[in-house]
Amino acid sequence: MFHYKSTDLEKLPSRYRANLINSCTGYKSVNLLATKSNQGNTNLAIFNSVVHIGSNPAMLGFISRPLTVPRHTYRNIREHNLFTVNQVNKHIFEKAHHTSAKYDEKISEFDKTNLTEEYLDDFDAPYVKESAIKLGCEYVSEYKIEENGCLLIIGAIKHIYLNSDIVAEDGWVKLDDVDTMSSVGLDGYALPKIIDRLSYAKPDENINSLWNES
Ligand SMILES: Cc1cc2nc3c(=O)[nH]c(=O)nc-3n(C[C@H](O)[C@H](O)[C@H](O)COP(=O)(O)O)c2cc1C
Repeated sequence: MFHYKSTDLEKLPSRYRANLINSCTGYKSVNLLATKSNQGNTNLAIFNSVVHIGSNPAMLGFISRPLTVPRHTYRNIREHNLFTVNQVNKHIFEKAHHTSAKYDEKISEFDKTNLTEEYLDDFDAPYVKESAIKLGCEYVSEYKIEENGCLLIIGAIKHIYLNSDIVAEDGWVKLDDVDTMSSVGLDGYALPKIIDRLSYAKPDENINSLWNES
């Protein structure tokens, strides 16, 4: 068995260390963030750091790498205040991966990948038409992670679009019905399958399957 202490991690080659640290915390959500600059240029980029922040009010967050080089997603969000979060599915994951390439700010990754810009209900940021679950968000705030210069960006969820067939009676979303992907590190993609839903955990009570209630 490998055992790395923090002092060992410091000595690892940087690519190996990045792969190890990025993948050992498990599967991550994988989304395309779409934005528009004040000049009207659209931008699309893959992110695996989108997290739930809270449901009342509905908010999400994502991590942006340090601003040591131009970050088009971040800059557009600060200019325009809006962004969309579009889930990656198995039909588009290669195109989604391609959006991580460093294109010039005037070049839209929508054009380079043939993913389709879609505008819904007067929201002035593009959604990804090929994505089955899309959220329209408004910038709320950001927090700098002092230890490494990354930023946690917080967005308010203003719109959610998804087919009613994939929403259970209690609001839970059947992600596997639309082949939602997850990622491992920065280059692995997986297709998760839900195996059960479980009852709310209470001290000293048995956990039951919600799908096989008797
Ligand atoms: C699977 C995957 C996940 C990524 N997740 C993030 C992320 O969470 N935060 C980030 O800043 N960059 C992430 N990246 C890198 C960005 O996609 C990449 O830097 C992209 O060029 C950013 O585009 P932008 O400058 O147009 O915003 C990820 C790349 C891949 C392949």
